Amino acid sequence: MTARILDGSSVAARLRAEIAEQVAALTTLQRRAPGLAVVLVGDNPASQVYVRNKGVATRKAGMVSVEHRLPDDVQETELLALIARLNADDAVDGVLVQLPLPPQVRSEKVLAAIDPDKDVDGFHALNVGRLWGGEAGLVPCTPRGCMKLIVEAGRDIGGMDAVVIGRSGIVGKPMTQLLLAANCTVTIAHSRTRDLPEVCRRADILVAAVGVPNLVTAGFIRPGATVIDVGINRVAKADGGSRLVGDVAFEEAVEVAGAITPVPGGVGPMTIACLLENTLTAYRRRVES
Ligand code: GUN
Repeated sequence: MTARILDGSSVAARLRAEIAEQVAALTTLQRRAPGLAVVLVGDNPASQVYVRNKGVATRKAGMVSVEHRLPDDVQETELLALIARLNADDAVDGVLVQLPLPPQVRSEKVLAAIDPDKDVDGFHALNVGRLWGGEAGLVPCTPRGCMKLIVEAGRDIGGMDAVVIGRSGIVGKPMTQLLLAANCTVTIAHSRTRDLPEVCRRADILVAAVGVPNLVTAGFIRPGATVIDVGINRVAKADGGSRLVGDVAFEEAVEVAGAITPVPGGVGPMTIACLLENTLTAYRRRVES
């Protein structure tokens, strides 16, 4: 059996089109468009690509995108002052600080400084708490995108066994909450988990978010399972170039899984679409409150 491919590019395009329609309806009513401010510190090549893609998608959806670039040696106080200005700016509905940050800047301090109602990444402690408490807040974009792809697989997931590999605050931990809220029985596995393949083989839904190229091989996968690959790893090719691979060894996994996301074209595009969705949600809550 060959798995169904969960095409994140087309699901994301659909979602972006729906959001663009809603934004167009706002502007027809003479309302201001939602605004997203993205802060990039330094010149990390991957971060530059992510930030550029976020800006393009934001503008395509009819929203206002503003980028703030700061040098790699920026002082924490300067970054905090910028965030305070963005928090106070009424035309800004979402504030996103691209991670990772350089070592002289404490990420936790920076994330805590973002107005929780503008925290479109969902990383502020208040939004983390809201997610764990089952309250309405802003939910991190990548796990939100993963859930939409899991739903796209079309199975009733209540009562299913889900295993998430990776315990990061950006993906692993919030992912477990979303699966739990959807009535799955959830296990978080990580680098110290004993017999990882055996733990993973219990999963009806397997989410890999560790950043280890091709870690999940066919032997990790229960036949028919839904496999979501969050990894985006750049690996060298024999000809001297490079290519992107996920955490899942796709060629063999596709023969065992029931549904699977490719890399690229799976979770990645969903993250950006969910960022737009969060920006629109933040806008509506601010305008309507
Ligand atoms: N770096 C890698 N992923 C993310 C993300 O989802 N948000 C931010 N702000 N930085 C990241």
